[in-house]
Amino acid sequence: MSTPATQPTPSPAAWNELAAHAAKTRDTHLRALFAADPSRAERFTAEAVGLFLDYSKNRIDDQALALLLKLAEQSKLKERIELMFTGAAINITENRAVLHTALRAPKDAVILHDGNNVVPLVHAVLDKMAAFASQIRSRAWKGFTGKPIKNIVNVGIGGSDLGPVMAYEALRSCSDRGLVFRFVSNVDGTDFAEAVHDLDPAETLFIISSKTFTTLETMTNAHTARQWSLAALKDERAVARHFGAVSTNAKEVSAFGIDTANMFEFWDWVGGRYSMDSAIGLSTMIAIGPDHFRELLDGFHAMDVHFRTAPFDANLPVILGMLAVWYTDFFNAETIAVLPYDQYLKRFPAYLQQLTMESNGKSVTLDGGRVDRPTGPVYWGEPGTNGQHSFYQLIHQGTRLIPCDLIGFARSLNPLPKHHDLLMSNVFAQAEALAFGKTPEQVKAEGTPDWLVPHRVFDGNRPTNVILAEKLTPAILGALVALYEHSVFVQGTVWRINSFDQWGVELGKQLAQRIIPELASAEEPALAHDSSTNALIKRYRALKAR
Ligand code: F6P
Repeated sequence: MSTPATQPTPSPAAWNELAAHAAKTRDTHLRALFAADPSRAERFTAEAVGLFLDYSKNRIDDQALALLLKLAEQSKLKERIELMFTGAAINITENRAVLHTALRAPKDAVILHDGNNVVPLVHAVLDKMAAFASQIRSRAWKGFTGKPIKNIVNVGIGGSDLGPVMAYEALRSCSDRGLVFRFVSNVDGTDFAEAVHDLDPAETLFIISSKTFTTLETMTNAHTARQWSLAALKDERAVARHFGAVSTNAKEVSAFGIDTANMFEFWDWVGGRYSMDSAIGLSTMIAIGPDHFRELLDGFHAMDVHFRTAPFDANLPVILGMLAVWYTDFFNAETIAVLPYDQYLKRFPAYLQQLTMESNGKSVTLDGGRVDRPTGPVYWGEPGTNGQHSFYQLIHQGTRLIPCDLIGFARSLNPLPKHHDLLMSNVFAQAEALAFGKTPEQVKAEGTPDWLVPHRVFDGNRPTNVILAEKLTPAILGALVALYEHSVFVQGTVWRINSFDQWGVELGKQLAQRIIPELASAEEPALAHDSSTNALIKRYRALKAR
């Protein structure tokens, strides 16, 4: 297996300098940092592609930032960015290029993969998607009985589900409200059953989305969808009108019986969790239309250009990524909360979980050694203000340090009187409260009895980034997703791990394959697992047989 031309080299100097600086400054309070520097709020900000990032409420000073950027440089981030953008096989364990940035490149760009320009391929698929989406949107695409298709069910899991669901929810305001969209991912039969229970098969199109077209959950749901369709439509020929496929695997798609005219291709140089802007976004395009989809891609692309060209000290993904490294490696922070103050982004944290954790949940370096410091923080979150009435207690007063990204918009897409200022006041208030807290003196001055004071004190010094944009548009969503994609890459580069493979999902899949027949067989199987697994299987079989 070939390896990319340039490997990042270890950078102990910057790591050690950062460790020393962190030890010296770790306890400096944000109150002191703000008091000492009236220009802090202006200096620790960056803006690009319609996104404004205020990172002033982080536990950094100028030197910390300089050292973090130095570490990025010493990790050969610049070179790694170029390798990614130019199609080097930086996914070394799968010997693959990592070219999701080609998916949103403009028509006249030239991006070579194995000597061939992939941009025309990308645009040919986009055109084919647009033609198909337009037929559905105009109701010209008729089902087998002649009724127009009204319901679109995306069947996929992981990257073939989370991006489409997140984007559909995020861009609902510009979606065709006359169409119904459902998403089936879980192999739990409930997911399929509930998704279709009120749908008419004659008006329903399934999009089977799977990069490999072999994923057990998706193929099981796809076969169930086929049976559900054919039970009503009673003719194999109906499949051509009611099924589309998005995959890299044309052979398996035709073996399933889907007309390859309804197949939308992508390529092995697109990772599943980096694929929402490939043909995997077909349901998104049907929902919002080809023009809005192009705007989404343009937003991604604008962030790509920014990431590739902006100096590190003004580079949003670099700053965000290096701050994640700072807290993960020097403050023992184990998680990062992403808190969108926009209901349309309710699935954004779930989307980010796969993007960040499948990418950087690694403990082996590119050269096969063990990492010598923590990597990949746990990303999680919920939309504000709901989270405030749930888990924010722990973020404010718990024993763990949880850096937070708060995402908000200046203009609501549903500007009901009062709501938006109320919502956004919470973004600013939460960031303020987390940073500055409330001292015992302040609490006492409010007349709090002495015994209650400790309970009402807020230590503060809890870091936040605030990401602010004017309005949640397709372009802004693209920029936001690309911001996190590239932030993940920055982190992975500095940790010298491969952010683009996912071997960690394999073992469970293999073991499940072995267990399936043991659960299904009529005969009592001979079990050769550990005693706990054996006992659980036996108990399951007994309960099932009752
Ligand atoms: O969970 C592992 C994984 O391979 C993800 O990386 C991927 O997004 C998902 O499964 C689905 O894979 P596919 O699109 O091939 O069905």
